[in-house]
This record gives sequence, structure tokens and C-alpha cells, in this order.
Amino acid sequence: MDPKQRLQEFPQLSDYVYLDNTGTTLFAKSQIDKFTSDLTSNLYGNPHTRCQSSELTTDTIDQVRSRILRYFHTSQDSHCIIFTSGSTGALKLLAEGFPWSPTKEASSPDEKNDRGVGDDQAGSIFCYLQDNHTSVVGMREVATANGARSVCLSPNQISSALSPDSITNHECNGLSDSNADHLFAYPGQSNFSGCKYPAKWTAMCKNGHLDKLLGCHGNWYVALDAASLVSTSPLDLSICEADFVPLSFYKMFGFPTGLGALIARKDALPILQKRYFGGGAVMAYSATQPFFVPRKLFHEWFEDGTPPFLDIIAVRHGLDTLECLAGGISSISEHTFYLAKYTFDNLKSLRHSNRKEVVEFYCKTDYTDINKQGPIICFNVLNPNGEYVGYAQFQKLAALYKIQLRTGCFCNIGACQLFLGLTDEEIQANYEAGHVCGDDIDIINGKPSGAVRISFGYMSLKADADVFLNFMRDNFVDFKLYNDKRKSTPHTERGCSLDENQTDGRLTRAKLSQICLYPIKSCAAMKVYIGIQRFDRDKVTLLVHKTQTVSFGEVSPQLFSGTVPNWEIGPQGLMYDRQWMIVSEAGVFLSQKRVPRMCLIEPTIDLETGLLTISSKGMNPIHLPLDMEPNESSLEIKNVCADRCQTFDCGDAVSDWLTEVLGQNCRLHKQNANYARRRRTERIDVSGVSKLSLVNVDQYLLISATSTADFLQSLPGHDLETLMDRFRANFVISGPLEPFQEDGWRKLRIGSNVFEVTDLCMRCRMISVDQMTAGETRDTYKQLTNRRGRKATFGILLRRLEGESTGSDVSVEMEIEVLE
Ligand SMILES: Cc1ncc(COP(=O)(O)O)c(C=O)c1O
Repeated sequence: MDPKQRLQEFPQLSDYVYLDNTGTTLFAKSQIDKFTSDLTSNLYGNPHTRCQSSELTTDTIDQVRSRILRYFHTSQDSHCIIFTSGSTGALKLLAEGFPWSPTKEASSPDEKNDRGVGDDQAGSIFCYLQDNHTSVVGMREVATANGARSVCLSPNQISSALSPDSITNHECNGLSDSNADHLFAYPGQSNFSGCKYPAKWTAMCKNGHLDKLLGCHGNWYVALDAASLVSTSPLDLSICEADFVPLSFYKMFGFPTGLGALIARKDALPILQKRYFGGGAVMAYSATQPFFVPRKLFHEWFEDGTPPFLDIIAVRHGLDTLECLAGGISSISEHTFYLAKYTFDNLKSLRHSNRKEVVEFYCKTDYTDINKQGPIICFNVLNPNGEYVGYAQFQKLAALYKIQLRTGCFCNIGACQLFLGLTDEEIQANYEAGHVCGDDIDIINGKPSGAVRISFGYMSLKADADVFLNFMRDNFVDFKLYNDKRKSTPHTERGCSLDENQTDGRLTRAKLSQICLYPIKSCAAMKVYIGIQRFDRDKVTLLVHKTQTVSFGEVSPQLFSGTVPNWEIGPQGLMYDRQWMIVSEAGVFLSQKRVPRMCLIEPTIDLETGLLTISSKGMNPIHLPLDMEPNESSLEIKNVCADRCQTFDCGDAVSDWLTEVLGQNCRLHKQNANYARRRRTERIDVSGVSKLSLVNVDQYLLISATSTADFLQSLPGHDLETLMDRFRANFVISGPLEPFQEDGWRKLRIGSNVFEVTDLCMRCRMISVDQMTAGETRDTYKQLTNRRGRKATFGILLRRLEGESTGSDVSVEMEIEVLE
């Protein structure tokens, strides 16, 4: 595919480098166009109805079933397709339907002695490769709950058990006889490393090659998890003897999501048991008696309820796209493998100045054999000292370059353990220390808890690989991890609180120099500092006694004599801080991460008139009452950073205004003050009162001007004021402080308010946005990661301790007293 065609077919990629095809590959424009035209030119009714439109649906679905089987080189003679919600749905169906028989234990020690060792193992075995997706490992719990024995084996153990010279069940004696049905599950391709596991394992397992290792005869069935494999490789079911093959269609052609299949051999399917029946699954049943007759065809019996018929129809267009646009699966396989090999070879050659390697790979091959390796590269980055660069930090840097990739464990803890050398004890200890799947805790005790994964799809271009390689060269060759003692350490690990060199007790002699609030989440700040309320770009609007505003030209220093700018403390933070947010057409809150122009929207609070005024260059300001109340029917639950909040819509006028400024449909919402926001960490808010506004993490954010000035040294071309603005603090403190001294504080007093430090503030690429112009520069985030090491933190998060605070406001010039 040439770049021009790529742009036409994948306009969603115009700004991005997409390297997460293993997560999901992308759909093409023509695929969706053909699908929508199919839907609007044909009347597809519910297939369970009996009329022309439903017959058309039934016939089309039948065609799609045949087409899918043909794609995998088989037919309805030997195989059956059961549509599911995805690979996971297929695996769950298999786990719940498999006839697990319980391990028979000898009833007494004597009997045990008489019967020999093997008799305790006569039940079913669920044997699975360690390098399996979570959705396969979860089957273990169903198997064990039904009394089966679960055995997890490493790739090496399976390889030697299933090697051509290993012995079969016919050749080994002394094993316990069992009529039990056993299941072996392994992936066609690891979603972690891209390693392709041999198709011949299937036949060898069925011939009893695992029996000796597991100490038991029996009937072996094989589940080949094809979810990752079939996204870029052919699968020939005419030669592969797997009984059950789960897959998800979005991994093959991006759309539809929520549809997958269990492709099963017809001779294996009868073993699956099923109790529940839904609409369409039975030929007859009684509502009052336990009488029912399952439908004869396997898929009819196993697909309960109305099938997702429009999604199934979309599969046809997906398969067409693979043929017509991508040139068929063999071409896809070769093209993606070539890109992975090219990228791997170049990454492998990256060296720091001291000749040490930049990348540590997690793979079993050197990308020379397409039969053994898929187009996935999994790795971590090392600095010149051989220390790991955390994957969370890597991900944030990649985001600056609009490179989309996946980090973490990719739902494959087994492979993670194998490649990263994590023991079971470490996994448990990491969990106890607070690390959960999908979080940002990427390095624990110097060891990575996950990795970075890039993966190619049929629409990937060599140019994508080159952007990625340049990103690697620019950012990680000779990468410095900052080795300052004060460098970012999680709050829980921070030891000393007060600086040892501090001479004058707990008073830092630092003062509050700026108070900022952000009435509309992610929009411009409203600043409360000596006289100046906020920047207006063309002019500076000034605050006198909180309400009276004058323009810059009228300013004279005398105007402010005796004025101490202050701001009230509310129950959730600074009064009116983050009380409003802008939501997209889809109802998702918008932030500068996606819409940098939001910083050009300037909200101001006028307490005297009781108005929120929103301005933006070239627009007439718009005013809203501060005390706008919701009516019951307008309340909506919204998610803000995974917490649930309740908001209400502020009406059409302001939404139209914002839509015009941002150039996309959006609405303004206000938080309902009477609804307790449920915090991610404390699911139940004790007092029942909302303690957080629409902030991301905590009530207040404090930064130090000294730390900002220190950081400024690494950023030529920036100035202190605009650099501080990028950090979007509520409190800026200045005074005789050491850079980053605030990182060690745990508790502090500002005026009569006592604050607990809840954490260091972890930064993301939002600090790339120049708050005056909405232009984005990469250097800020990049330099911060260099300066601050593994976690790009800057500033501290505060929560006001209600019981210990007596004040009702904060004012500029208040002294900062460190209590702990
Ligand atoms: C190998 C493998 N198996 C199973 C799954 C689960 O697929 P789904 O989430 O579509 O059900 C995935 C998803 O990434 C996978 O890569």
C-alpha cells in the first residue's frame, strides 16, 4: 500500500503512527463504506423471524459462516462456527462446556498404597502453556472448580514433551488409565513476544505425547488460541488438528468489535455440555415443565439469543478487504514480518556511546523465520548504566510523538514472568505493594514489571517504522537517568521529611506567590496574585478587592497598596476550581491532551455579580450564573479519571459558543455539588459530601518557583512565567528553597490551613502545551523525564485536613510551614 492510498483508506492515521495492531488492527474506509452501503441497500430483519427480510439475514449469515471456514481452508463438513463476543467469549464457552471429570482420590491411605501413585490423577487435566493470554489462564478456575487438575507448563517443558523423539502414550507403561477428557491450550502466536508456537504440537498432544510428563492416559482435546496469530498469519485448519479455535474478528480487520468465534471440529463438539438455553437454541420447550429439545445444528444450540447479525454481515466486508486491499493473508504475513524484521535489526544495532545496548528484547528468535516469529517486538529500554527506563515513562514520551503502542504485561503475566524473570513471590509482593495490571508502576526494586510492545498491521508502512526508530534514536541513545538523591520516589517510599540543612525549624521562609484556579477543567487559569487576576494575552486584567477589574494601561503600583489578594477555600479545593468541564459529543470530558486549544478559553469568576465569564480571542464573552442549579432530569453520571461524578448540562448557548471556539461539537457541564464523587482509592466517601471537584487526582497542586527555575536551566528558549503556567498549579510558592525540596514534605500549613501531601504529581504530555499559544513543544516533557528520572513528577498534591484547619481562605504572601 502506498502512502497516498494509506491516507485515503486510513484517514484516522493522518496524525498518528499506529503500532498496536496486536491490540486491535484498524478498519479501512472502503470497508466501512461498503458495509454501510450494504446495510442501507438491503433490508436485514431478525433472523429468528420468518419473513423475507429475516430470510435474507439467515442466508447471508450462512454465507458468512462458509466464507470464514473457506478462509481457514476448511468447510462445514468438518468444522462448525459458533459466534461469540470474541476470543474470550469462545474460551469461556469452552471452559464452561468442557466435560471436566474430578480427580479420583483414594478414599483411605491403605487404598492409596494398594492403587499406586497414578490413581490420584485419574480425572481431567487442563494443561496450558505459560505463555498464554489471561483469557486462557482464567479457564483454569473453571477446570479446578470442577475437580480437574490444572498444569501450567513452560514452552521448554512442552517443547521437550512434544518433540518428535518423545514417547507416546502407547509406548509408556505404568500410567494410570483414565477415560477422562483432557484439554491442552496454547496460542498460535504469543501476544507478548510474537513467538509462533508449532501447529504440530496439536497432533502430538492428541497422540499422547504429554501423557508421560503428566502421568496419565486419557482423551486429549486441543484448544489453539488463534486470536493473535490470525491477525497477520494464515491458519490452515485442513492440516491443523486443533479441536477448538477461538478468535476475535477485530484483530483481523478492525471492525466489527464485539464479535468472535469458536471454530470447532464437528467430531469434538458433542463433548461440550450446555444447560442454559436462550431464544433460538431450542426446537421445543415447555414453560411449566422441565422439557426442552435442543436445536440440531451445533451453532444453533450454542448461540443463545439473537445473533449479532449486522456484525456478522460486517465480517464479509472485512474478509473482502483483506483480499482486495491487503492482497490476501500471505502478503499481509510477509509485509508485516518484513517491517518487524527491519525494525528489530535497527533496534538491535542501537548503542549508547559506551557501546552498551539500548534495547533488551523479549523474544525467542532473531526475526529470520516467518514460521517462528510474528510481527510483534517486545522490549525494554536500558540507559548507559544498564538501568531500565520504565515503560510508563516510555509510553508518555511516545505519546509526544503520537506513536501509539502498548506497554505493561499485555494480559499475559505468564510470558512476562518468563521473560522478565519475575517469580510468583515477586508477582504477589508487587501486588501487595500496590501494583495492579494496567497501572504506571513500571519498575519495582530495579526490575521492570512489564515491557513495551510494538506490532505491525497490513496498513503499516516502512515510514511508520522509521518514525519509531528515529524516536528511539532521539530519545534513548545516551539517555540519562537523573541520579539526584531527591529524585522522584513514590510518596510511600519517601523517608526524611524536613531538609536536614534547614536551620530555622519548620518555617521554610517560602511564601505563597500565586494562587490559581481553573474554573473550567483543562481551560486557562484564573490567577490570583499581587493585583493581577489573570493574563488576557492582549491585556492583563487586574483584580482589585476580588471584583473590580481594570485593564493593563490603567495600572499603577499605588492601586494595590494594602490589597492582599486572597481566595476562599471550598469543600473540594479552591472555591470554583474545576467546577465545570467541557464534554465531547460522545459525552467524554475533553482535556488539553486531545484539544490543546482549550487553554485559549479563559474563564473568570466575578463574585460580586455572581457570574462566570468565559472569553476567547475573537469571540464576545459569554456569562453564566455561578449558582446555576440542576433540575433532576438533567443530572448525568460522568467519569473523570475513572471516578464517577455527577454533572448537569449548562445549556445550548454556552455549548454553541464553545463548539465555535473549539471547532468541534461539545457541551459545558457543571458538577452537581450535592453528589459525592467516588474516589478511585476510597470507593466510599466517608462524610457523604463530595470532596473532590473535577480534578484528576487531588484537591490542590503545589509547585515551587525554585524547582521551576532549576528546571528552566535545561530548557533554553523558555521563560519562567510560561513554564510555570504549563504545570497548572493551584499554589506557586517562592522563597529560599532548594530545588525539589518540596518532594520530601508530608504535611504543611499555609495560613490556618493544614494540608497533607498525598503524592508527587506525575506529569504527562499535557505540559507540552504552551498555555499562551496552545502550541505544542516536545522539549518540556522530554527534559522533565531526563531531569527527574523514571517518573516525570513535578509538584506535590495536597489534601486539606479539615479537622486541623481553621482558615477559610488562602492569601498571597502567606508563609509555608512544613509540619512533617
Ligand atoms: C492471544 C490472545 N488470546 C485471547 C485474547 C482475548 O481476545 P478478546 O479480548 O478479543 O476476547 C487476546 C487479546 O488480545 C489475545 O491476544
